[in-house]
Amino acid sequence: MFITFEGIEGSGKSTVMGLMAEELRLRGFDPVLTREPGGSGLGRSLRSILLDARTHGISGRAELYLFLADRAQHVAEVISPAQEAGQIILCDRYCDSTFAYQGYGRGLDPEQLRRVNDMATGGLMPDLTLLLDLPVPCGLERAGRRNKEAGTTVSEGRFDAESRNFHERVRQGYLAMAAEEPERFAVIDASQTAEDVMLQCLSAVEDSLRRRGRGLE
Ligand code: TYD
Repeated sequence: MFITFEGIEGSGKSTVMGLMAEELRLRGFDPVLTREPGGSGLGRSLRSILLDARTHGISGRAELYLFLADRAQHVAEVISPAQEAGQIILCDRYCDSTFAYQGYGRGLDPEQLRRVNDMATGGLMPDLTLLLDLPVPCGLERAGRRNKEAGTTVSEGRFDAESRNFHERVRQGYLAMAAEEPERFAVIDASQTAEDVMLQCLSAVEDSLRRRGRGLE
């Protein structure tokens, strides 16, 4: 099962993903944890270019193709092999980040984005997307604090430095996509504690499996 975590900066995706992985391991599963950008060897180089606040003047299209190159390699090197091995994949960001950030955020055409994204992924879509939703000021505050503590304000801060309006468009974009595809998306209130968010995510996974006639036990 291919599960993606999406949301604005500071929505707690990586913390919740880690908690969910522990829970799945207790139930005897061996989940693969991965992320975009940076889930493959090539992707780690691309990540440092894409997120570095010192990367100036990159055009919206150049940015798009770097994210897509990261994704194409990630699918080939990590996601497809894990799927073939029957593993549960927990992935921090995937194609909906492109639709939200490059589409709703930067204003690139959504139809074109879908086409080029399909080329990068071979059409591989998540089985379930957990959208961790919270108000933009809360998310930016959390992300700012985290980057300061980790000393990554510059090396990973390019998107955090975007305007409040940009992040509002991204958030509303995610919510619009979730409303269009309610079967694939589960919208989770990410303003609760990480443990509570994880429990809601877990029940969304169970619901999704139940709809396919399977379970987590
Ligand atoms: P990351 O540190 O992984 O996100 P977070 O702050 O949520 O932990 O940073 C990834 C950044 O890249 C994030 O700001 C969203 C952006 N992004 C895109 O703009 N398009 C994409 O396709 C992807 C995968 C990420």
